[in-house]
Amino acid sequence: MKTVHLIIKRQDTPNSAPYTQEFMVPHTDNMNVVTALMEIQKNPVTKDGQTVNPVVWECNCLEEVCGACSMIINGKARQACSALIAHLTQPITLAPLTKFPVVRDLMIDRQRMFDALKTVKGWVNVDGTMLIGRGPRMAQKDQEEVYPISRCMTCGCCMESCPNYHPDSAFLGPAPIAQVQLFNTHPIGAMQKDERLEALTGPGGIAACGNAQNCAAACPKQIPLTGAIAKLNRQVNKFTFSKLFDK
Ligand code: SF4
Ligand code: SF4
Ligand code: FES
Repeated sequence: MKTVHLIIKRQDTPNSAPYTQEFMVPHTDNMNVVTALMEIQKNPVTKDGQTVNPVVWECNCLEEVCGACSMIINGKARQACSALIAHLTQPITLAPLTKFPVVRDLMIDRQRMFDALKTVKGWVNVDGTMLIGRGPRMAQKDQEEVYPISRCMTCGCCMESCPNYHPDSAFLGPAPIAQVQLFNTHPIGAMQKDERLEALTGPGGIAACGNAQNCAAACPKQIPLTGAIAKLNRQVNKFTFSKLFDK
């Protein structure tokens, strides 16, 4: 029988020491890393015959949309649900992302990314108390420019690759910064444009980006992160100058 050999970095609690365990699971057609982990869940026995606790990981959509299953697969941050076993070199190494706290095994806590989205007001305010009609139209050119940014699934791969994003830095990170471009381009979202630009001038804001450009290359959705960051940099500079002259 064809088998899949996995070497998994595990961690029992957020503060305990990590360790590795190896597993051999039966190979099935069109298998991906999530289905391999499900095989371990059904029969949590290591390669050397020891019964252990099933490996913990997170997944949801299973179609590279929710971002929950991000992990480091053969050294690269990516989604487990879209990582086909047939395309991976064995033994396959699995480890949790390193820039976020580990909850258990391969499951990480991405709360910091969601907090950063709150900091930059990554939403369009809608007053649901009255009929507001169809609202303003967004120019086709603007739609085309920012649509790729709307595909962000908060997966954390860009943050993992960014040298300036780590537990000891306050940097908001490339994904939440790029969302400012999306919401500031929206005709209603633009009403809070200044508040978002203000957030980018604060601690951990856009100035903390060293332009290493790793982020765009790491994004599974091919979001032009560095282009968005460069545009916002110019807007933030203009905003800061205009504030000086408004005084
Ligand atoms: S350009 Fe470099 S420093 Fe800036 S967010 Fe991307 S990876 Fe990080
Ligand atoms: S920008 Fe790309 S890599 Fe970063 S969180 Fe969004 S989808 Fe993931
Ligand atoms: S399960 Fe949603 S991206 Fe993989």
